[in-house]
Amino acid sequence: MRRFLVAGNWKMNTDRVTGTALASALAAAAPETDDAVEVLVCPPFPYLSDIGAATTGSGVQLGAQDVYFEASGAFTGEVSVSMLRDVGCSHVILGHSERRHVMGESDELINRKVRAGIEGGLHVILCVGELLSEREAGQTESVLDRQLTGGLDGVSEEEAMDLVIAYEPVWAIGTGVTASPDQAESAHAHIRKWVTDRYNSVFADRVRILYGGSVKPDNAQTLMQQPNVDGALVGGASLKANDFVPIIGAAKTLASV
Ligand code: 13P
Repeated sequence: MRRFLVAGNWKMNTDRVTGTALASALAAAAPETDDAVEVLVCPPFPYLSDIGAATTGSGVQLGAQDVYFEASGAFTGEVSVSMLRDVGCSHVILGHSERRHVMGESDELINRKVRAGIEGGLHVILCVGELLSEREAGQTESVLDRQLTGGLDGVSEEEAMDLVIAYEPVWAIGTGVTASPDQAESAHAHIRKWVTDRYNSVFADRVRILYGGSVKPDNAQTLMQQPNVDGALVGGASLKANDFVPIIGAAKTLASV
């Protein structure tokens, strides 16, 4: 059975005081590692150390929202895998739609980051997802295939061991429009089939596929109830403990049945 992962992507939100308070509230709500539900927060870079300190010893893990593929050197503005490890990160989100569509990241760049993250011992959460126009043109599956093929180029099964994939339809991010449970399940099933074909069915059975895009306390359970949805990557609703804790609770409820 796959363990649920409920991850909060704080994006470019919070400050030191509000972020630390949020992290402390989450650490209190998830005081220890849960066998059924993993909890992760991904704050902005400047607060990683503070948030790490506020969650140390709790069941809340720490991740970053991006990383550069080079180890060190003259790369102004960038952050390396070892720096993230140094401040306590276990995870990194890569290929987020905002990186792809606002910053213009290509599958090739994302792939270099994915490989560097894995090589440096981070658990990579690779995000994929189609634009509304691509969905309407019937291209959802081909877009997912292209992003998965590009993002995981040269990544062996052994290297992909700790990989998590997040399906985030771009039209559902920050819009309040959530994919229906059927739309999510269909995309997730397609992704798992892609993993079966690219790797094998044993690995595909194990890899976790999160849904992201307007996940809220009132829709989290129905989405995560779908057979191929193994958790959530939450934006807006991860910024308030009163919203995020019930989403973790929804995963716990599902895990206990
Ligand atoms: P929202 O939950 O705000 O739609 O954001 C989703 C997301 O992009 C998570 O990475």
